[in-house]
Amino acid sequence: MSRRIFAGNWKMHLGPEDARQFLKVFLSRYRHEAGREVWFFPAAVALPAVAEAAGGRAGIVVGAQNVHWEDQGAFTGEISAPMARQAGAQAALVGHSERRHIFGETDEQTGRKVRALLRHQLTPVLCVGEKLEEREQGHTLQVVEGQLAALAGLDAAALGQVIVAYEPVWAIGTGKNATPKDAAEVHGFIRAWFAARGVAERHTTILYGGSVKPDNVKPLLAEPEINGVLVGGASVNVATWSEMVR
Ligand code: 13P
Repeated sequence: MSRRIFAGNWKMHLGPEDARQFLKVFLSRYRHEAGREVWFFPAAVALPAVAEAAGGRAGIVVGAQNVHWEDQGAFTGEISAPMARQAGAQAALVGHSERRHIFGETDEQTGRKVRALLRHQLTPVLCVGEKLEEREQGHTLQVVEGQLAALAGLDAAALGQVIVAYEPVWAIGTGKNATPKDAAEVHGFIRAWFAARGVAERHTTILYGGSVKPDNVKPLLAEPEINGVLVGGASVNVATWSEMVR
């Protein structure tokens, strides 16, 4: 059975107490199903709460939204990969569009973060995606290829640990989706990029993100190129999220 990941990026929502309440309700409705994984990316302060509440339940993974590339040091306000791991993370988002476009993160920094995560046995979920004007100018694949360059120099074994999330910037929080066909085209391009570097096509996991909701998740997941979804807004409401996962 192929892998189906439902990943919730909570962004700057839900503190530790909210997270505990959320998980309590979610888990009362949750049943593990083969092939389906539910990933939570809470705010760093809520990581231990989510990790403890999930308590190693089958099919549930917890990750950080961001890490610094150094393991420790004078970087006020940052958290490192080993710290995230100590707080219960098994994975982390890297290069989310909000990190790139609001906080000015570069592909170079993104690449260093991916390496920090791999050093600490955390799964990097590298987010890529074009802005509206880039899509309109027909530059989508070029932009995505430029962002994948953050992975340059990693060998096939390391690349095989990386998950990619394709999140077109114009679809994030806007209510606009890429069509399953548009998303599949970009996913196919990303899969070929990995295949050219020695990662078998079936081993590359690529998520789609951008205004995924309970009413549009099915056609997206029906597309064989799409191995799962990365969800913002619809993941912070426990009823909506439980419905989507079900
Ligand atoms: P929305 O689902 O709110 O569009 O957010 C998508 C996203 O950025 C997930 O990382």
